[in-house]
Amino acid sequence: MLLKALIFKKNELWVLDQRLLPHQEEWLCCSDATRVAKVIRDMAVRGAPAIGVAAAYGYLLGAHRGCEEGRVLTPEALRPVYDELAAARPTAVNLVWALDRMVACLANCAGLDAESSLQRLADEASAIESEDVESNLAMGQYGSALIEPGQWVLTHCNTGALATAGQGTALGVVRDAWSAGRLEGVYVDETRPWLQGARLTAWELAQEGIPYRLICDSAAASVLASGRVGCVLVGADRIAANGDTANKIGTYSLAVLARHHGVKFMVVAPRSTIDRDCADGRSIEIEHRPADEVRSLAGRPVAPTDAPVENPAFDVTPAALIDALVTEAGVVQRPDRGGIARLFE
Ligand code: MRU
Repeated sequence: MLLKALIFKKNELWVLDQRLLPHQEEWLCCSDATRVAKVIRDMAVRGAPAIGVAAAYGYLLGAHRGCEEGRVLTPEALRPVYDELAAARPTAVNLVWALDRMVACLANCAGLDAESSLQRLADEASAIESEDVESNLAMGQYGSALIEPGQWVLTHCNTGALATAGQGTALGVVRDAWSAGRLEGVYVDETRPWLQGARLTAWELAQEGIPYRLICDSAAASVLASGRVGCVLVGADRIAANGDTANKIGTYSLAVLARHHGVKFMVVAPRSTIDRDCADGRSIEIEHRPADEVRSLAGRPVAPTDAPVENPAFDVTPAALIDALVTEAGVVQRPDRGGIARLFE
């Protein structure tokens, strides 16, 4: 059975603490929006679509709390809840995309009593979750058809069930390509500093029985040079209107390597990850994370304790290096402004 990153039941959001995986499985309970913002900020739940779903439920919990405190339920009254959740992580646009949907839903509740408004908000959060499941399935089919049978692919970070509400984006394509017998196996970048590849993707693939080899990030060049990899598959945190794509740090270097070695580079992401208000990659805000993530490994110091550090969590791959963008609405080959705009027609 597919792993779940989060479960909403009885007005509580339960989040599988991904900081402890794969060796410990612990669920964290969030009963208010502040707690949801914290689990997103601290990366107990991570991956662009998953944090969008978590934020939607966080907004719902904020509305419940507002109601208990006797506040009228309006987008203006819940503005502090929106702001707190939106500020949790800046790069993944799915977070504000999901919050904006909740705000639009609440704005349409004018004239309804509190109970009906809360029900509408609960339905909207649940719709955001189930639409993500559906779009993962569609992307899996579109993407799998692009994999030449008999290939190994290479992936970065974690884009699977732990990063979404469903089977995943790039890892959803891997799942479907494997079921269709089109895939030999997967090279998994360990993905320093947070090790999403080593801790999460390797774990997901092992559970599915999909053959994989875990590699150090710095091994990607020689693996691509070996000719064994037919395609690099990655997810995205924010795609600008021209196709420039922000994703986990290290993605850009993979795109350069893939182009150099004549290997296809494919981005797999739902349309909720496309930010049409963002003209190009230069306007994407990049999250910088704490220095100790780089100075240490699995909680143990590996560098001088005061080593000056730069720790950008994401980088931007120029659209020109992307061969295909796979969305739930279809595939854009060589994504550019026109191709991206057509996805929304
Ligand atoms: O910092 P993270 O782990 O939230 O970063 C996740 C990624 O970069 C993923 O590739 C992206 O969110 C797509 S997940 C389907």
